[in-house]
Amino acid sequence: MYEWTKVFGLLRPMASACVIFLGRYVPWPGLKNGMLRMLGCRIGSFAAVGLGATFDIFRPDLISIGKGAIIGYNVTILTHEFRPDGVYVGAVEIGDGALVGANATVLAGVRIGAGAQVGAGALVTRDIPAGGRAFGVPARLTEEASGRWRSTRTASFSRRYRKASSWRRRPT
Ligand SMILES: CC(C)(COP(=O)(O)OP(=O)(O)OC[C@H]1O[C@@H](n2cnc3c(N)ncnc32)[C@H](O)[C@@H]1OP(=O)(O)O)[C@@H](O)C(=O)NCCC(=O)NCCS
Repeated sequence: MYEWTKVFGLLRPMASACVIFLGRYVPWPGLKNGMLRMLGCRIGSFAAVGLGATFDIFRPDLISIGKGAIIGYNVTILTHEFRPDGVYVGAVEIGDGALVGANATVLAGVRIGAGAQVGAGALVTRDIPAGGRAFGVPARLTEEASGRWRSTRTASFSRRYRKASSWRRRPT
């Protein structure tokens, strides 16, 4: 890792780091998505990346986020991995309408399918199929799949949003 410039070069990662770290504090999804697209990330329409989310500075171009996906606060998405035997690089794909909960970490080379849900705080080390739900460290798939969450914006978005705002976590 000490010699990262030999692997990734100097200027590109430095420029990416500036944009990514500035972007962490940008609250407007449209502006933030534009900044990330400048770095080569593929960001679908109406995808929302939360405050504090950090994308890989070395290969942000290997990250793709689907339409209407939600990336929660402080999520970290990595596309590289330094190990004692070398550096590994892998694309991360997050499908349309998927949710990655706050503080989750997504490791290099992982695919999260359309409509899948990753719980807050999870560590995603393997692919999650479309519609799947996974929690924990490391993230494990749960049996049930939920059709309750939809995040692709449509004409009825405002109506659904009001309805969602009265949602309460189930009583313990
Ligand atoms: C994944 C998530 C959407 C599931 O919500 P839900 O369908 O209401 O699930 P429930 O609260 O009914 O929990 C179902 C089970 O999963 C467990 N669980 C839920 N979220 C979990 C998490 N993040 N980590 C570990 N376990 C979790 C619950 O303890 C519960 O277990 P039990 O059945 O043994 O009691 C939600 O828990 C979550 O993590 N949301 C994050 C939202 C977020 O960060 N959005 C972006 C920023 S706003």
